[in-house]
Amino acid sequence: MEGRAIKPAILAGTAHPALAAAIAQALDLPLSACRIERFPDGEVAIELREPVRRKDMFIVQPTAPPVNEHLVELLALVDACRRAAAGRITAIVPYFGYARSDKRAGHREPITASMVAVLLQAVGVDQVVTVDLHAAQIEGFFHIPVDSLTAVPVLAAALHDYLPPGTAIVSPDAGRVRMASEYAHRLDAPVVVLHKQRISGTETHITHVVGDVRDRPCLIIDDMISTGGTIVEAVTALRSAGARPPIIVAATHGLLLPGAQEKLVAAGIDALYVTDSIPIAIQSWPQLHVVSIAPLLAQAIQRLIGDGSLSELWR
Ligand code: R5P
Repeated sequence: MEGRAIKPAILAGTAHPALAAAIAQALDLPLSACRIERFPDGEVAIELREPVRRKDMFIVQPTAPPVNEHLVELLALVDACRRAAAGRITAIVPYFGYARSDKRAGHREPITASMVAVLLQAVGVDQVVTVDLHAAQIEGFFHIPVDSLTAVPVLAAALHDYLPPGTAIVSPDAGRVRMASEYAHRLDAPVVVLHKQRISGTETHITHVVGDVRDRPCLIIDDMISTGGTIVEAVTALRSAGARPPIIVAATHGLLLPGAQEKLVAAGIDALYVTDSIPIAIQSWPQLHVVSIAPLLAQAIQRLIGDGSLSELWR
């Protein structure tokens, strides 16, 4: 019997319908019809409103806040697709919630990123695509393919004409040195590393500035901005070390929890660049620039549909 082509389809959860729509439009694919609601007690209610049998399903759902809601919804969408005999299921998770829980800081703690990996595989995900995963070792929690794309080329391109000559690229902690080096390579700039101590979930402290920032503008990079505490500490340390304006910030995931904008404004940052890996609700903040990763994700999906390589997307 001749094999029939497996048709691709994009399915959007409720975490970021605008991103899913932009991806579908870039690929000229329709969004798969689906009803997603909550039962009166808060449980997730899902109904796929068209057949997915043998289809190549790409489910777009960043597990952004409220993380648990969006995670369970993603699991239920995958379960619905698998039970409806989808041919292949790819979870497009531009922001991977719980990624910071990638190891145990002490005794009797969970490794929640590992738990998320177990759950995704248990419900039947065949492969995962994510962006700037907080820690590369999270891939090791899966025994299915995980492609962690990077938004650095997209953000660096947006920043290229804006950065003054002599700008230093600043890694806010040891964990982001590789990402800072990638920005530095693309923007032809030196790297400076801050030594950060985390005091609690919301409190950090910079003890050393490794590199020369005197009379230099700075671009502080990070994978995510949550409360804004890390960036505010970095700005204070850089100013004390003699950095001059502008101080610019670039981060892939702009969680920007309540209070973060006020903190960053008070810290006097000159510009903030983030992607649309999660929805950015803030409207009136002239310093905020949102760069879309929909074309990057569309290209990745295009290559996966054709069983192509994703490695060129890094260039
Ligand atoms: C930490 O390791 C991460 O890379 C970010 O620096 C951190 O999670 C940002 O969180 P916040 O904005 O709350 O400091």
